[in-house]
Amino acid sequence: MSEGIKIVTIGGGSSYTPELVEGLIKHYEELPVRELWLVDIEEGKEKLEIVGNLAQRMIQKAGLDIKVHLTLNRREALPGADFVTTQLRVGLLDARAKDERIPLSHGVLGQETNGPGGLFKGLRTIPVILDIVNDIKELCPDAWLINFTNPAGMVTEAVLRYSDHRKIVGLCNVPIGMEMGIAKLLDIDHSRIRVDFAGLNHMVFGLDVYVDGVSVKERVIELLADPSNSSFVKNIEGLGLEAEFIRALNVITCPYHLYYYKSAEMLEKELANFKEGTTRAEVVKKLEEELFELYKDPELAIKPPQLEERGGAYYSDAAVRLISSIYNDKRDIQPVNTINNGAIANIPFDSAVEVSCLITKDGPKPVINGHLPVAVQGLVQQIKSFERVAAEAAVTGSYDTALLAMTINPLVPSDTIGKAILDEMLEAHKAYLPRFFAKAQA
Ligand code: G6P
Repeated sequence: MSEGIKIVTIGGGSSYTPELVEGLIKHYEELPVRELWLVDIEEGKEKLEIVGNLAQRMIQKAGLDIKVHLTLNRREALPGADFVTTQLRVGLLDARAKDERIPLSHGVLGQETNGPGGLFKGLRTIPVILDIVNDIKELCPDAWLINFTNPAGMVTEAVLRYSDHRKIVGLCNVPIGMEMGIAKLLDIDHSRIRVDFAGLNHMVFGLDVYVDGVSVKERVIELLADPSNSSFVKNIEGLGLEAEFIRALNVITCPYHLYYYKSAEMLEKELANFKEGTTRAEVVKKLEEELFELYKDPELAIKPPQLEERGGAYYSDAAVRLISSIYNDKRDIQPVNTINNGAIANIPFDSAVEVSCLITKDGPKPVINGHLPVAVQGLVQQIKSFERVAAEAAVTGSYDTALLAMTINPLVPSDTIGKAILDEMLEAHKAYLPRFFAKAQA
């Protein structure tokens, strides 16, 4: 890599960008970024300019020499990139609202990365990410692709299986959020904690947890058995799992497990919100409007604390520590989404898993090895089957494969209900699913 790093952020107009910029400023000494390119699409132009100007003010305030470039043409941005980050939302928040509302209208959980919503987010997103990967291969083949775009596990799976670009890491803030949450429960600094993570994105378990190298798992499990302590992210409110269940499971769950281990209650809560007219997409829309109003203020030159109301808290810490460890060949341990290659037994070798890894200049190397506990293995395998079939549907545009993915998802109660949801969602998202509709017209 040349002196000074070039980062290209696709979906640069996102309200999360100030998080990333804050992280880059904080870690400038170890990660000397010389160029940050923020890329967006025509519909995102206004947001890109607002966020881009804020980024410039933040960097200026910090007195750093990072050049910010804004563009609507990613092919202009990519040449010479060392890292490409993707944080995009195909169809914007309106598509998320449909992902949430349509399943709920059929009495099925509506969530952006789980169940039918997760499937459709994947169907819309995967072809776009694969196009970006093609551009990376052509214009900056040595660049690392750091994908934050959800569903991050399914997207990483698709890149691993449908492209030959191997420099991809999928990143999520859930594991770091769990670590931070555990540190808070134990009332110690986050740097003293290490968790052995294994599983899939939004389906990851903490198999063990150490403070200064000594296992404190039993203590943490006891603390988590207290229902008021059991949620680590803002967008999933705590609904405590049963204490006896937590103890018997004997691994640390992530917040998204509530959709599986407390599906009836989570569905009931979502249905209540839906009936009142506000699913998470509307809450986020409102938050975003407020954020962009703040971002417009020419006096603002920091990340406003309101951004922490979003589910993506600590995302900049996760992003910057990953990029820095690759760049500096730090060989520290971080949880990321990468190729399994046998790290987790009974998950295909070529699949993406979310697992604690040594982060080197050649990418992540899993440090976990072996079988998942039998009580969680089945669910992880089922979700992996769902992600693989969903990725195949996204690439092929096959209706039958999409129905297969829908029906094998554990949150979908029947093939007939799944088919009804599929038909309605295909129609609703038609504009963003060219592979499905080009086929139908052929
Ligand atoms: C969590 C997840 C992210 C997700 C976010 C949604 O942090 O890890 O993958 O994007 O929540 O937050 P939002 O504020 O958009 O509901």
